[in-house]
Amino acid sequence: MTTRLPDAALHAAPSHVRHAALKQWVAEFAALAQPASIVWCDGSEEEAQRLSNQMVSAGQLIRLNPALRPNSFLARSDASDVARVEDRTFICTQRREDAGPTNNWEAPAAMKLRLNDLFAGSMRGRTLYVVAFSMGPLGSPISQLGVELTDSPYVVLSMRIMTRMGRPALEALGESGHFVRCLHSVGAPLREGAVDVAWPCNPTKYISHFPETREIWSFGSGYGGNALLGKKCFALRIASSMAREEGWLAEHMLILGVENPAGEKTYVAAAFPSACGKTNLAMLVPPPAFAGWKVTTIGDDIAWIKPDAQGQLRAINPEAGFFGVAPGTGYATNPNAMATLGANVLFTNTALTDDGDVWWEGMTDAPPAHLRDWTGEDWTPGCGRKAAHPNARFTTPAAQCPSIDPQWEDPAGVPISAFVFGGRRADCMPLITQARDWRTGVYLGATLGSETTAAAVGKIGVVRRDPFAMLPFCGYHMGDYFQHWLDIGERLPRAPQIFCVNWFRRDEQDRFIWPGFGDNMRALAWIVERARGRSNARESILGWAPTWDDIRHDGLALTRETFASLTELDREAWLRELDAHAEWFAQIGERLPNTLALEWERLAKAWAR
Ligand code: OXD
Ligand code: MN
Repeated sequence: MTTRLPDAALHAAPSHVRHAALKQWVAEFAALAQPASIVWCDGSEEEAQRLSNQMVSAGQLIRLNPALRPNSFLARSDASDVARVEDRTFICTQRREDAGPTNNWEAPAAMKLRLNDLFAGSMRGRTLYVVAFSMGPLGSPISQLGVELTDSPYVVLSMRIMTRMGRPALEALGESGHFVRCLHSVGAPLREGAVDVAWPCNPTKYISHFPETREIWSFGSGYGGNALLGKKCFALRIASSMAREEGWLAEHMLILGVENPAGEKTYVAAAFPSACGKTNLAMLVPPPAFAGWKVTTIGDDIAWIKPDAQGQLRAINPEAGFFGVAPGTGYATNPNAMATLGANVLFTNTALTDDGDVWWEGMTDAPPAHLRDWTGEDWTPGCGRKAAHPNARFTTPAAQCPSIDPQWEDPAGVPISAFVFGGRRADCMPLITQARDWRTGVYLGATLGSETTAAAVGKIGVVRRDPFAMLPFCGYHMGDYFQHWLDIGERLPRAPQIFCVNWFRRDEQDRFIWPGFGDNMRALAWIVERARGRSNARESILGWAPTWDDIRHDGLALTRETFASLTELDREAWLRELDAHAEWFAQIGERLPNTLALEWERLAKAWAR
């Protein structure tokens, strides 16, 4: 570890930066990482143009055909750096038990010693970018500030889309404002005169979080959730820990608004594990039977939710852009997402068409006759390889989304009337259910499971418990997280209703029974009506479920019997499920709230009758 302070010229901050502790921190980190230069990012269009031109010249970005996709670029990552690395993600708390059994743990001092060694000289030959950013609209009482020090211009360009970045955030910091400290290096120092590679990264990776000091140190990866530190690292792992201390919620949830023909707007926050179609739901286009209904988008991935002075939960989307999975996003399945991708997009690991545009599986029914695949190789239909990487991404400004809600940047947030939890389950979980109360709702969130798909680690089709879709994103002990949810509900004068959905039930031939996509509007309409205390339902062990007459089925090729099979609770499947819940709760250990153990007993007794 070197402690040599860089010379004054190296760390001189622009005159409008008045935050002494920030300047000191940048100087100290520069002394460690030894960059060739430091740039304090202002977030301007000119800065973005300069960086993208530089990256195009260096072969690190491909400029897409401006006639087809203006101001848009394609990055191709290293084949070893294509996704979040959960096994290299650490929660570093003083006491191991505070990170809990579902997180990788390391003591803060030991981790910092190791990271200090890795960061020493890691930016040699590169530029250190100082990226000040706000998660959430500047000035919102729910928003938070952060500063990421990174040696990746790709990260700078991405953070400019995903956050409110640059001079306004620096100004908001003032002389002494609090900020989350985010350190990031791709871990690939450049020797003098050496030519850079297209995607620098390091085989050694650490995505380390220090919730007690609200810091993130990320080393070795340039990709998405590992490197854009405002997203999963700050807005979920660090923020969930802050939220617990301060009495609010930082959740892996989309936020949408549903407007009925009378103009009544109801806001819903919904948690789904990865690969369950969150972006599609957030941008849903209602089917023709729902003329006069509108779905609007506040966010597609993360929600920060705080009780206001009246005890009403209000939510903001802390992000300013969408970092969505491209494959499976198409004109037929998500026209709003496609329209959001018209210009100003940074694509990663998609295929490239011969006329300089992007393509991925699911974008159109028929693939083009020839492409360059995500690695740059020739690709033709039927060659046996995917053209785009399954985790290929788009990074695009949320403001470009046709369904964006007029209130999406309201500093006060939007009032949340319902929470929805959903997983990918072939059986057991019904199409839709309303939890009988907050406690049953928290139980259903705590036991949320989803079948693994090709995008997730592990065996395909196995149910992985993903409580509140937060398994990889909770910055503290999962048992304490469950208790936090129970406590929040206790304190609210009118807690939102909690619902569970499952779009993925399959028949004996293994075909999906429910059409999904726009038709999920039928479930959403019931949810918002129930949240307003309207619409009928029958009682069930879990709470309430719609009958055939309670759900709009006009324009849908679904029989009464099929609907019954989608909404019924199967006793045998539930007995097996309760066994699985008991095993899962045993893994959580002593910090499992007793309330949830009692709820398990209630369900077990109800089924035993
Ligand atoms: C994501 C995820 O990238 O949840 O949003 O994995
Ligand atoms: Mn996500």
